[in-house]
Amino acid sequence: MTELAAPPPLLQASGISKRFGAVLANDAVDFDLRSGEVHALLGENGAGKSTLLAILGGLYRPDSGEIRIDGEPVRFTRPADALTRGIGAVHQHFTHALELSLLENIALGLGHRIRLDLGGVRERATPVLARLGLLARIDDPVRDLSLGERQRLEIAKALVRGSRVLLLDEPTSILSPGEVDGLFAILRGLAREGTAIVIVTHKLDEAVAISHRITVLRRGRVSGTLTRDELALIEREEATARIIAMMFAAELPVVEAFGKRRAGELRLRVDRISARDDRHAPALRECSIGLKGGEIIGLAGVDGNGQRELVEAIAGLRPITTGAISFEGQEIDRLGVAERRELGILCLTDDRLGEGSVADLSVAENLSLTKPRRGFWLDRRAMTRDAEQLIAEWEISAPGPATRTGDLSGGNIQKLILARELSQQPKVLIANKPTHGLDARTATLIRARLRRQANDGCAILLIESDLDDLLPVCDRIIVLSQGRIAGEFPRNRIDLAQIGRLMAGAT
Ligand SMILES: Nc1ncnc2c1ncn2[C@@H]1O[C@H](COP(=O)(O)OP(=O)(O)O)[C@@H](O)[C@H]1O
Ligand SMILES: [Mg+2]
Repeated sequence: MTELAAPPPLLQASGISKRFGAVLANDAVDFDLRSGEVHALLGENGAGKSTLLAILGGLYRPDSGEIRIDGEPVRFTRPADALTRGIGAVHQHFTHALELSLLENIALGLGHRIRLDLGGVRERATPVLARLGLLARIDDPVRDLSLGERQRLEIAKALVRGSRVLLLDEPTSILSPGEVDGLFAILRGLAREGTAIVIVTHKLDEAVAISHRITVLRRGRVSGTLTRDELALIEREEATARIIAMMFAAELPVVEAFGKRRAGELRLRVDRISARDDRHAPALRECSIGLKGGEIIGLAGVDGNGQRELVEAIAGLRPITTGAISFEGQEIDRLGVAERRELGILCLTDDRLGEGSVADLSVAENLSLTKPRRGFWLDRRAMTRDAEQLIAEWEISAPGPATRTGDLSGGNIQKLILARELSQQPKVLIANKPTHGLDARTATLIRARLRRQANDGCAILLIESDLDDLLPVCDRIIVLSQGRIAGEFPRNRIDLAQIGRLMAGAT
């Protein structure tokens, strides 16, 4: 390859920051894109990839930073502005009119009133649909298309509108392996003709296979890049290893309370269980986990690999199709949710406001919501006293026990739920993303409290999609990938590179 004097990048974003409450989703991100390049954006869940794409596509406005196109500063206030400048986004959720044909959908995307000048639109759409393998379907209703075809229609819509930049947020997550190859062939062809493509993916192998350049985000910041030259020179293995190092923390942080602990006897045994998801597709495949008193097992994995189904199966909310779950040697498969709770198995959902608490009740009421009640009467005085104690112990910022729970911040609601559940001295605690979206201080407080509970004998399964949130507190890390236990690592034999590979789908 001969290097020519480089013109300014087609798209250049500098110093992009975007905050959502306590979370700095993008922190001074620099990102650029050249014509004809496929630039992959990688990072763990919550790293800020979708946020950056939404900013480039005009869906969100950055708090600070600048975007230039062909060297010229632009300011987008809505997606239409980005489209006018040739930036087309293909979102994870499609926006088609299902009853209308492909052609009509493309016309709508162009801002045409339907059935007006469809002839002209057909002429423009024909070559685009042909190269995307959709021409034969041009007059079919979108309802009849597969998910993969609908995704290609989204790309077609962007191209017919003259996009020079395509933003693709996890386009392969809905595709079968064969469809992925088809999409990549299309993307390579488009890039050869000068289209610039940003592709977000969780899967390292995919990123290395398709891209000319890779940028990795970690906790909102750019943690590293692999340039076109580096990717061309180094072996795939090495590229993967370098990316993993950029994606995950380099060292093992430890919370203070780790010290004195001893693993107790087996409390909860999950033995080769399988379960289906809400769409009846297999979500857990023959998973086995043994939880001992006194230990925290960290379940690592990219979101959507069976975590939710596992929690629900243990809680008694979701039937299992194979295997068995036992508590202290007794099978509990026939027990309902309340009976399992009575045994001391408590499960914290990742849906704080929806399932974990009642917004309209007071803090004191929420704090006593799931407590077993002794008599028929509510002892309001005791309830208030207990609440005051928990508010202090957990540093919940609320004016008082009578405050409406819905008026607290997310972090304080999370502390409230944990305070309530942990104060019941559970024997087994399943915590699904207890620190998700919280500021670092609150997250550290919660992790320290979980560790203390384990040191006091509780058996804890902690689920986080960010490895950094697991490493400080766990005795063992188990990786869940595509519904299977892909690997297990005791604390003294943590292999971050291998964990990263397993999380990214390697077998
Ligand atoms: N609209 C939003 N409101 C509040 N928080 C958000 C919003 N969008 C993203 N976040 C938070 O910002 C962080 C980055 O999210 P996101 O960009 O979606 O990450 P990724 O796509 O890399 O998984 C996460 O902690 C997420 O919870
Ligand atoms: Mg995302």
